Amino acid sequence: MTAFFRVNGDLWVERVPLADIAARFGTPCFVYSRAALERAWTEFDAAFAGVPHLVCYAMKANSNLAVLNLFARKGSGFDIVSGGELARALAAGAEPAKIVFSGVGKTEAEMESALAAGILCFNVESAAELETLNRVAGRVGSAAPVSFRVNPDVDPKTHPYISTGLKESKFGVAFAAARALYARAAELPHVAIRGIDIHIGSQIGELAPHREAAIKLRGLVEALAADGIALHHIDLGGGLGIRYDDEVPLPTFEYAAMLREVFRGRPETLLLEPGRRLVGEAGVMLTRVTYLKPGVDRNFAIVDAAMNDLIRPALYDAWHGVEPVCVRDEPALRYQVVGAICESADFIARDRDLAIEEGDLLAVRAAGAYAFAMSSNYNSRPRACEVMVDGDRVHLVRRRETVAELFASESPLP
Ligand code: LLP
Repeated sequence: MTAFFRVNGDLWVERVPLADIAARFGTPCFVYSRAALERAWTEFDAAFAGVPHLVCYAMKANSNLAVLNLFARKGSGFDIVSGGELARALAAGAEPAKIVFSGVGKTEAEMESALAAGILCFNVESAAELETLNRVAGRVGSAAPVSFRVNPDVDPKTHPYISTGLKESKFGVAFAAARALYARAAELPHVAIRGIDIHIGSQIGELAPHREAAIKLRGLVEALAADGIALHHIDLGGGLGIRYDDEVPLPTFEYAAMLREVFRGRPETLLLEPGRRLVGEAGVMLTRVTYLKPGVDRNFAIVDAAMNDLIRPALYDAWHGVEPVCVRDEPALRYQVVGAICESADFIARDRDLAIEEGDLLAVRAAGAYAFAMSSNYNSRPRACEVMVDGDRVHLVRRRETVAELFASESPLP
């Protein structure tokens, strides 16, 4: 079920025509459906009903306060990766005791603010980080709750840039090193062992890599128990893929059923860190065709969104559906849908058959995850606005940046 559908050829979200939103707020513009966001969170959570669990939304996927606040109101936890994300999560109403802190490079300042907030757990990714965390916690007079992120050396079969669980990756600690690290943590006065963590990659289509990693993890949890290390939770990370083109996403309930099976009989709480699955299909990016430019062997549709607004095609060769918001009864031509940025990598979509004219509005689908969140000001382009639709109500949840804001914090030499 999707919140985006056609009414007499026009694309709507919930009870609002997308063309109305573009007319009111301009383009480029990200539009999210409240119903789709809430449904995604509830479905995910429900798949684990009956087992002690906590969904910690990986907020890097989409960190708009309105999105975070919707999830916080549902009782969601959050997976953060920076002091900035911590501040955002707290501003959106997150409960500190439901926040896990991931990332290979946490600074002392970030550790201090997370300790002060009272987060659930630090997912520690190296021996050096463990020692620093112990020192920082000692300095502020507390004990840092920790998990180690272990690297199960499993191939998630996804794009290399979003594969994180292979042994050559910068993430996590080697499986073979884990027991010694837990033993070291147990000796340290200012850390408290809470759990264990994996995250093998993103946009994963198959169950098998998840299962392989989970089985390895269970083995390690049992080895640690034999060493006298008791854990409170097991964090499985995120990674479930969504539908961009013709992928058939792994149903959450199948993933959950596999985890129930693998961890049957274990007392630990399961933590999940879904990002893309909760927000990806709940958003579109609206962009308008500025020019049509016929070429010798390719036609270009130059649009007002660019790689600064949506970098996924340029960075991962990612495919996003592109559809006219209002259909035209004309023959389609094959287009390269490109932005105005001075880079050949600045494309939104390639080789798409579209019946369009200059000034037409396009919807770029599945733009709720890693879209606005990865946007930039390259070429001094203000970042787009974000809108959330709730039934027939339309809320501007982030206004468009102004050009003046882009250089307000800069200064020429005296
Ligand atoms: N937990 C950790 C520790 C992560 O690093 C990530 C994503 C997640 C959870 C959430 O993964 P998800 O459920 O969204 O797959 N920018 C890329 C995706 C990068 C993912 C980074 N880590 C993209 O646009 O495809």
